[in-house]
Amino acid sequence: MTSRDKILNLFRSHPDQYLSGQEISRTLDISRAAVWKQVKALRDLGFEIEAKHSSGYRLLASPDLLLASEIENRLNTRLLGTSVVTYAEIDSTNTELRRLAEAGAVEGTVVVADRQSAGRGRLGRRWESPSGVNLYCSILLRPDIPLHQASQLTFLSAVAVAETLNDVCGLTAKVKWPNDILVGGAKISGLLNEMNAETEQIHFVILGIGVNLNMLTEQFPQELNYRATSALLESGRPVDRLLFLRSLLEKLDLFYNEFLRDGFVPIRRRWESLCNTINAVVEVDMGNLKLSGTVVGLDPDGALRLQLENGTVERILAGDVRPVGE
Ligand code: BTN
Repeated sequence: MTSRDKILNLFRSHPDQYLSGQEISRTLDISRAAVWKQVKALRDLGFEIEAKHSSGYRLLASPDLLLASEIENRLNTRLLGTSVVTYAEIDSTNTELRRLAEAGAVEGTVVVADRQSAGRGRLGRRWESPSGVNLYCSILLRPDIPLHQASQLTFLSAVAVAETLNDVCGLTAKVKWPNDILVGGAKISGLLNEMNAETEQIHFVILGIGVNLNMLTEQFPQELNYRATSALLESGRPVDRLLFLRSLLEKLDLFYNEFLRDGFVPIRRRWESLCNTINAVVEVDMGNLKLSGTVVGLDPDGALRLQLENGTVERILAGDVRPVGE
């Protein structure tokens, strides 16, 4: 932990209190000049720090910055966030986490960036990632599960994101098969889960999560072929990115531990209760084939169960699901 992070933690553990330069210097075992230098560095980052002649320094306000120490501070998790790595800019948090994972990063490592220069979506698409507004993060898991169960983790992250949007932002987010999160029918978040495995053994899984939190209409790319939205646009209130990320990591941590203990069933139930098309008549576009039917649930491997008019149930492995009439 850097001296800057240590000072920040000290302020956090003494909310609203003045801390003298001498006290800080003694507690952290750094010189008074180093304290002053770090306070200046924090101010340059946007932290409001009051300096009072006879009392010392006091933290008044923090910017909406995603710093590792801020994320780790008061993070109530067992596994996720064991190591948090943050960047002002990176090509893609998924790509960076893959590099770290290949170099031996531990399970629970989280990579977060304020901006991505090459944010990736599914099917080779680009994920718009401007700075200061949204959440772009990737989480490293090393689950000891059979390969065919790895896709279940997509549903786990979809449920965690939807529930966090509902709890923190007061929205009614729904999940859309296989891995979109929608509010009012518009996409608010996308998931890109990637895996490194050999025959039956999973080396690691990366949960890539992008959530449009404070993005404004003009920041969305023109060429999107679906409706997109952000939490700010839906609720009219800006979202504290730190608070959102911490809540998301805590939920994911809870669900992941439950998944390792009790298997997929509890996640599947939650996913089905949040699904926007459960029991609805939909059309599934699989490129060369279109099917209509009623969505009746998820199979253990994540396939969508679609009941056709003749009563038979088809397993859908890939495709675009649209409610009939939309
Ligand atoms: C999609 O819906 O197409 C998936 C979008 C996934 C975007 C996230 S942002 C964080 C992580 N890093 C990336 O490059 N992509 C994922």
